[in-house]
Amino acid sequence: MAIRNIREIGDEVLRKKSKEVKEMTPQLRSVVDDMLETLYQVGGVGLAGPQVGILKRVVVMDVSEEQNDPVVLINPEILETSGSQTGMEGCLSVPGKHAQVTRPSYVKVRAQNVEMEPIELEATDLLARCVLHECDHLDGILYVDKKDGPLLDNEAEEEE
Ligand code: NI
Repeated sequence: MAIRNIREIGDEVLRKKSKEVKEMTPQLRSVVDDMLETLYQVGGVGLAGPQVGILKRVVVMDVSEEQNDPVVLINPEILETSGSQTGMEGCLSVPGKHAQVTRPSYVKVRAQNVEMEPIELEATDLLARCVLHECDHLDGILYVDKKDGPLLDNEAEEEE
């Protein structure tokens, strides 16, 4: 396993549409492992393929406080959303910043796990926000495109 370099806003790879995963190869499996290791190393909650320069529909997430509940979604497809939540959001590809984003508070997603078995996930609150944020990455969308407040500096916020 290895820590991968996280691409930052301005890098055009973040704006491209990722391709469907047809099969889990040993190479892709090691990308997934690296993405999780990278996520844990930086203390994030989610990471999508394009953020490590891989234009494949792969998402890793862990919203648990203990960082011991990894979720891997291959080819995630949003089946249903409902409700609304407004809250602050950040992204490892937009370092040092955050902004208010309104998103659905519930999402049902169909995907495949790392074994390429079909799975369905229902998520609310933070996990729903994370699923939607990461799925956006697969279509070249960043949270800054849909924020409904100013882009704030993390340091400035702490001083308030
Ligand atoms: Ni992000």
